[in-house]
Amino acid sequence: MNTSTITLSSDPEWYRKAVFYEVMVRSFLDTNGDGYGDFRGMIDKLDYLQWLGIDAIWLPPFFQSPLRDGGYDVADYREVLPTYGSTADFDEFLQGAHDRGMRVVIDFVINHTSDQHVWFQEALKAGRGSKERARFHFYDANSDGTPPNNWISLFGGPSWTQVDDGQFYLHLFDSSQPDLNWDNPDVAEDFEKTLRFWLDLGADGFRIDVAHGLVKEDVLKDHPDPQGLSDALRLDMPMDPERRYALLPTVPYFDRQGVHEIYRKWRTIFDSYGSREVMAVAEAWVHPPVNATRYVRADELHQVFNFDLLDAAFEAEQLYGLMSAAIDLMKSVGALPTWALSNHDSPRVASRIGDLQSRALALFVLALPGSCYVFAGQELGLPDGVIPDEARQDPIYFRTKGVQKGRDGARVPLPWKGETAPFGFTSGKPWLPLQEGWKDLTVEKQESDPRSTLNLYRNALNLRAEHLVNNGEVEWIESPVHGGKSASLLAFKRGNVSVYMNLSDLPIEIEVNGKLLVVSSGIVDGRDGKVTIPPVSTIWLHH
Ligand code: GLC
Ligand code: CA
Repeated sequence: MNTSTITLSSDPEWYRKAVFYEVMVRSFLDTNGDGYGDFRGMIDKLDYLQWLGIDAIWLPPFFQSPLRDGGYDVADYREVLPTYGSTADFDEFLQGAHDRGMRVVIDFVINHTSDQHVWFQEALKAGRGSKERARFHFYDANSDGTPPNNWISLFGGPSWTQVDDGQFYLHLFDSSQPDLNWDNPDVAEDFEKTLRFWLDLGADGFRIDVAHGLVKEDVLKDHPDPQGLSDALRLDMPMDPERRYALLPTVPYFDRQGVHEIYRKWRTIFDSYGSREVMAVAEAWVHPPVNATRYVRADELHQVFNFDLLDAAFEAEQLYGLMSAAIDLMKSVGALPTWALSNHDSPRVASRIGDLQSRALALFVLALPGSCYVFAGQELGLPDGVIPDEARQDPIYFRTKGVQKGRDGARVPLPWKGETAPFGFTSGKPWLPLQEGWKDLTVEKQESDPRSTLNLYRNALNLRAEHLVNNGEVEWIESPVHGGKSASLLAFKRGNVSVYMNLSDLPIEIEVNGKLLVVSSGIVDGRDGKVTIPPVSTIWLHH
């Protein structure tokens, strides 16, 4: 029995309001000088995470892997990658997190394995028609020698690769990531064992990678517009929204009804851990947005990511539209939304919209109902790293022949201390280069500066726990500006806290009484029932 869980709050719906901290082990802290972060480093910094005030940690895959896609290519689902440490190290980390009241959610990458996984190696050897090949999508070439269909990989290039005997296998991502055949009972059975394996070790839940994938339909049919499909799926690709909305529901490999049966089965496994309060969050990019609610039906998963803010402009009307829609959508099924400004797949928010803007937006979002996902480094206001092409690792860069630079910029390790790169991350050569210019962004510098981004996050997380998590629903404030409306101000009230974000470059004066809890940047001027919000800044007021 796992005794450490007794220090965790026993709230069965803890995840609904939790702040999750997403941290890639390899970018956090390296303790043995090999340039890769490791579980010893994670253990060393548990006090830092507790000090910061997060509720839970989400670990992207840390399993045995050739790291062709940063670990999203798993070779053994029940082994820790030795570069990161041992299962005993993971266990020590987990206990340490629990002892500090933090939960740990791990990544579950089940749309595909690595080509180094024993199943795929067996499939290669066993040959066509074998039960080993039936665990993946192996098919013969068309009579003209072309692949079984015209689908394009999400990482660029064809989604089929040919093996020695002439058959092709399907891979929606890199060729080193063969897609599993979820119609094969071996697959479902083995992953149920893996779920139990980590739950028995004490994990608190799972982030389900490509949760809308898994089930494929019409694998032997061409899609009428494969390039359109592939462009529509890339949110960074400009496309007429009408066209995008028309194409997305036609994807034959995403958001098929069959996935929900899989999650219903898993839910019975999660629930069998009873008092442990296990949760699972779906990475499901689906259209129309209402489809996301299916993943959080009472007998399926607990949460679904909302990616809307990852590419939203810093613009009041758009933000209001996205936020209110997300809240209403989840409310329609009794769930709460999730919020993320950055993650390991997208440009960092500070680079995308600017430093002050990202502080203002973060403070605003942290006051909304639901749970927040903070990507490690976001609390430092880290921008994207500038990566020389020869240091790039992301398969997207290679598969698109450099046309897309990929996601490495967001994945650069954290700067901890000192005046020169790699800022205490490693005593060796970091797996991606830290930037010399980050000397004022280190944890050490920011800890001692009350106005730093780090202290803003810490204050906000404390105040959120004290004033907001059990506070009411959002009431949007329509015309908060004294003497008229402003397109530059977004505001809402939750119970006895009101939140105002000034998106403009000028101070805005509002008529309101209340005690200032926190401001994202600048000095707030308040007297005689009037408060002046600094430019590009958010405030929380207590009434
Ligand atoms: C998810 C992960 C991404 C990975 C892909 C393939 O989208 O977030 O990092 O490359 O799945 O596993
Ligand atoms: Ca290391």
